Amino acid sequence: MASPTDTEPTDQERERRRFLLLVGSGALGAVGLGLAAATLRFIEPNVLFEEDRRFAVGRPEDVPVGTVLVLVRQRVYVVREEKGFYALSAVCTHLGCITRYEAEQKGFFCPCHGSRYALKGTVTGGPAPAALVRLHLSIEREQLVVDAGRPAASQALLELPA
Ligand code: FES
Repeated sequence: MASPTDTEPTDQERERRRFLLLVGSGALGAVGLGLAAATLRFIEPNVLFEEDRRFAVGRPEDVPVGTVLVLVRQRVYVVREEKGFYALSAVCTHLGCITRYEAEQKGFFCPCHGSRYALKGTVTGGPAPAALVRLHLSIEREQLVVDAGRPAASQALLELPA
């Protein structure tokens, strides 16, 4: 007498097995693809390459004391004082609008919510929580160079040799 396991599978059972094999293979394939994608993502360096934001402004001796250079495209101000230069980001520290220079007020104004900044970048009014960011300044090949991607100390001043 033959046991149930000795019997040949019916067509319906074969079809069911083929279907389960197909579903199982598909699931394994999907898992394999997911693992491969995760591995590739892990291997790839997770680095953000930023463009160089340095630019030359001109020769320091060509900028008279009391001048405020408004560099609209770069969103930067360069201020010449008696002792030297400093650079400020024109981006408002409240919500990031672009400030504008107001010569008669001797300061900067943000048109979005009315923040005001003194010529040194400190807040004098409005909702801005902090001073305008000072930017790194240097002299290279006799040119004043601003690095708009590199904040400097809040009192940073590029002094000129006497
Ligand atoms: S973004 Fe400048 S005051 Fe709000």
